[in-house]
Amino acid sequence: MGSASPSCTELADTYDAIVLGAGAAGLMCAAVAGQRGRRVLVIDHNRQAGAKIVISGGGRCNFTNVDTAPDRFVSANPHFARSALARYTPADFLALVERHGIAWHEKTLGQLFCDGSARQIVDMLLDECAQGGVEIALGSAIRAVEHGEGQYRIGFGTRAVSAPRLVVATGGPSIPKLGATGFAYDLARQFKLKVVEPRPALVPLTLSGEEALFRDLAGVATEVVAGAGKAAFREAALFTHRGLSGPAILQVSSYWRHGEAVAIDFLPDRSAGWLAEAKRSSPRATVRSVLAAALPARLAETLAERLALTGELANLSDAKLAEAGRRLSDWRLRPNGTEGYAKAEVTVGGVSTAELSSQTLEARRVPGLHVIGEAVDVTGWLGGYNFQWAWASGWAAAQAL
Ligand code: FDA
Repeated sequence: MGSASPSCTELADTYDAIVLGAGAAGLMCAAVAGQRGRRVLVIDHNRQAGAKIVISGGGRCNFTNVDTAPDRFVSANPHFARSALARYTPADFLALVERHGIAWHEKTLGQLFCDGSARQIVDMLLDECAQGGVEIALGSAIRAVEHGEGQYRIGFGTRAVSAPRLVVATGGPSIPKLGATGFAYDLARQFKLKVVEPRPALVPLTLSGEEALFRDLAGVATEVVAGAGKAAFREAALFTHRGLSGPAILQVSSYWRHGEAVAIDFLPDRSAGWLAEAKRSSPRATVRSVLAAALPARLAETLAERLALTGELANLSDAKLAEAGRRLSDWRLRPNGTEGYAKAEVTVGGVSTAELSSQTLEARRVPGLHVIGEAVDVTGWLGGYNFQWAWASGWAAAQAL
């Protein structure tokens, strides 16, 4: 955002609403408002609308999750998302997808994907915008945003435009190379709205020091229960050259704070005394061999080395085996950081929900200013929840435009 005045040589074109950001939330909001008869302009500095949608879900867009519920979102106010999520549901979005003849399938854990390509979702949203007569201006930087006499005036490229309502849908700073910025936070500060400190989320964690040894396992994956803070997820974890990734780790990264440990249960289906039981049924076995029967070989070897229990189980005391079992079910790793915004699927934090109406996403103290999508301090779990929030918050704001 520059400081230049938006008033260019020409008079400002006027609209009923201006949406900043042609991503998931902005396109949905604009299409719905346009179809409600509003004259809507969408502005984006990218040359392509919906850039994140196109690469999402490995190119197939995990566009919603049928298990959507407020407890699958991270926010300083866990109740905030409830209203919008209840009024525009996964079934509503699925009905739209089906109206556009887009084939889809449920993959796992309630996650719905396109059979074909994520681009179909962008085309669908652009088609919905066209049906609502929405004007979309791509490829021009926003120079200034001003507010006065009930009008928002925006300068972008060589144009100046104004409207009584402004929707901020510029997302979070994750994946800057796709055009992501912290613009929403700058704008929030301009209007004196609080911002909950943003940080990268759904992001791989990095290991260093002694724990860097685990990096030798790069490429090894196994199902675990990974926990950070009060959250725990049972999914695959993947060792990488820099540390840890895979769905279980991405999920806990949204809850993890610098300095904290991540707890990993490598054998979630084993009871506490399983090693002592193994000793009775196979006394000649070793810790390494029983681990190798349950885990990928390289991981089993590394864990056995770390446990430093050599020799036959028969020669190890039950107490030692019980202690080893406890470690394996609550292995503490202390990441030294994350792979940052360059690799983060989303950003937690953002414009404080305390500033916004949960019904309309309008700023309580700044009439006519709405904030939707990832820009808000509402962040979903991995698995289609973030798009559902984008659709639902965009739809909710559109009802008020
Ligand atoms: P979004 O980021 O979609 O849109 C913001 C728009 O604002 C962009 O078009 C951007 O160019 C524009 N903008 C930013 N700064 C600007 C500025 N200064 N001036 C003008 N325009 C500006 N979620 C999910 O539910 N299922 C999935 O499968 C995936 N997969 C996935 C993969 C990858 C690699 C990433 C990075 C992310 C996902 N996500 C996901 C997350 C999902 O993409 C994300 O939560 C939504 O796109 C957020 O929608 P928004 O509309 O809020 O922001």
